[in-house]
Amino acid sequence: MQILLNPGPVNVSARVRAALNGPDRCHRESEYFDLQDAIRSRLTGVFGTSPDAYTPVLLTGSGTAMVEAMIASCVPEGGRLLVVRNGVYGDRMARIAAVHRIATDAVASVWIARPPRESLERALRAERYDAVAVVHQETTTGLLNDMETVSELVHAAGARLLVDAVSALGGEPFDFARWRPDAVACTANKCVQGLPGLSFALVRRGFMEEMQSYPERTLYLHLPRHHASQEQRSTAFTPAIQVADALKAALDELFEETVAGRIDRYARAATIVRDGLEASGFALLLPQALRSNTLTTAMLPAGFGYESLHDALKREGFVIYAGQGQLSHATFRVANMGQVAEDEFHRFVRAIGAAVA
Ligand SMILES: Cc1ncc(COP(=O)(O)O)c(C=O)c1O
Repeated sequence: MQILLNPGPVNVSARVRAALNGPDRCHRESEYFDLQDAIRSRLTGVFGTSPDAYTPVLLTGSGTAMVEAMIASCVPEGGRLLVVRNGVYGDRMARIAAVHRIATDAVASVWIARPPRESLERALRAERYDAVAVVHQETTTGLLNDMETVSELVHAAGARLLVDAVSALGGEPFDFARWRPDAVACTANKCVQGLPGLSFALVRRGFMEEMQSYPERTLYLHLPRHHASQEQRSTAFTPAIQVADALKAALDELFEETVAGRIDRYARAATIVRDGLEASGFALLLPQALRSNTLTTAMLPAGFGYESLHDALKREGFVIYAGQGQLSHATFRVANMGQVAEDEFHRFVRAIGAAVA
């Protein structure tokens, strides 16, 4: 078995994999709607939100599908969006908005920093925004954006808060009650530890209703369509049924482990990886205060190619991940999401030490 140290898709448990082997079902029969209901009720419960406050929406498609559905569905006709950009995924949200011809501005910073509070304040003073979109963990680097500050300023400005939490939810504390996001997009196959093919969003109930009067910018990715049919025990299109079985099993496991327990487990693994990398002479890209629980970006030593490091580790059963965009030649990434035993992280640290020795 390969140990996946890429930031999703992740190694899953035997129970999640076994769930794929369920019976064939028709998506227009009660058996599937029972499964859909079970997933939707677990989604609000496991993340500690009240079903009165937040309503879940399932979508067959990867994380980008849900992020695109969120951006395309959550801005009114003639509305304006502000995107916090400090990595590839913030950039992607701005590209999505451009594709859907949504007027968009950005508050940007270098990829190894959070945009300063004053820049966001200035932008929100200079223009009236209907919504502000932010990536919780910028998977480009493993940087955690400051949800506390962003949420405070966005709510003070009267804008909607849209969060790409695709790589964070389940692996980082997410305070729904305090940050009061209006929509949060996530995927099955990262910190939730399900399989690829399904994504989901948690949306503030009142916002979901309001969104029904917003323009339908896309047919498949129009969130109110999916939500309305799921609320009526139906489905708009053919869902990934077996992947949904696996997601239900993954959510049961997350309930058992608890989100807090998973965050602790990931934090321990991240510490092993970071201490081990530094002991072998690697410099880490981000200062400690900005690092997530689940992803570490390290600098490639001078004269050391990513491919040779990747291949040496793959021979030992570990899949690491290349740096992204402007960082691709200088860095590599090691994720610690998924069902991976702590011993494997110790073994990884020994393997990378041997590879550079
Ligand atoms: C923050 C973030 N947003 C969006 C995505 C896109 O997800 P997917 O590759 O499942 O489409 C990713 C994938 O790594 C991500 O990390």
